Amino acid sequence: MAQALKKADNVMFQSTQPELGDNRLELLRGLRQAQKTLDPKWFYDERGSRLFDRITRLPEYYPTRTEIGILTDNRQAISRLCETGCVFIEPGSGSSEKVRLLLDELRPSAYVPVDISEEFLCDAALQLGREYPWLNIHAVCADFNHSWSFLDEVPEGKRVVFYPGSTIGNLEPQAAVAFLQRVRRILGEDGGALVGVDLHKSSPRLHAAYNDASGLTARFNLNVLERINGVLDANFDERLFSHRAFYNEELQRIEMHLVSDKAQSVKCSGGHIEFAAGETIHTENSYKYTVDGFAQLAQSANLSLQQSWLDSESLFSVHYLSAV
Ligand code: SAH
Ligand code: AVI
Repeated sequence: MAQALKKADNVMFQSTQPELGDNRLELLRGLRQAQKTLDPKWFYDERGSRLFDRITRLPEYYPTRTEIGILTDNRQAISRLCETGCVFIEPGSGSSEKVRLLLDELRPSAYVPVDISEEFLCDAALQLGREYPWLNIHAVCADFNHSWSFLDEVPEGKRVVFYPGSTIGNLEPQAAVAFLQRVRRILGEDGGALVGVDLHKSSPRLHAAYNDASGLTARFNLNVLERINGVLDANFDERLFSHRAFYNEELQRIEMHLVSDKAQSVKCSGGHIEFAAGETIHTENSYKYTVDGFAQLAQSANLSLQQSWLDSESLFSVHYLSAV
């Protein structure tokens, strides 16, 4: 277990990042499949996290402002369910922007932001600690799909997992169930989960959200190549790939790909990866759910949907889940 370091009077920090060798193997496994694939977590180095933060403010990207509206309008009811004094754990915390909407009402005994993007997490936690000097922050750099043993270092109390942003949509449905099962295990009998889920809707709105006019989402997608170059000692050239995002109606998911503009051979970890012209790397899925579909997913992890809040256009949803 990594040691927790004190970063400020109210901010502790611990890191449980995998070894470089493990990262390389994982990346190469994905790039050697018939459909070349990367886990979306690779988007989030410091630059990727900053680009994502800018995406959340784009006019086309409705999820963030809609969820902020739902959390703001319902903060009292949400805080009553979560309960003052709870340990509030946010896997994939990013800029920790949304927790600010609940803190004054909720007054948790500790906030545990967990993110893969180390420098960004550290800056966000320190900034939050300055703004809320009464808040005990225990920041953890970890992959939320790996062990949650970091919770051993966190104060006791009712646990509430805060998973906003529809980050759950970036997991394959089976992985989403596995994630919720993990959540269920750490909740005990009295804990809960507050989960933000983007809803299925007509394709033009979705298409626009992932193909913004300013090209920020394209930059976010392409940035992953620079990231892989660092980890794999590779020579991907961003200029030779293009962003593609479309709604797959049948699977109810946005798919993001990077398309190779021509046939090319890319140096990677001492070997080569070959691309045909038009071949893609599948970089992200963003699943969209119905409220019933999400309730069923939660049920398969023994979590029951206690309350749901939606915006007036039913674009986005926030759910409080409790142990069955
Ligand atoms: N919760 C925030 C940010 C959502 S963006 C909000 O709703 O605004 C998704 C976040 O999850 C990013 O900060 C990214 O770095 C993080 N993330 C993605 N995959 C991860 C993984 N496997 N483990 C830990 N963090 C991850
Ligand atoms: C973090 N995640 C929920 C975002 C999404 O909408 O799937 C990531 C993103 N990808 C492109 N734009 C935003």
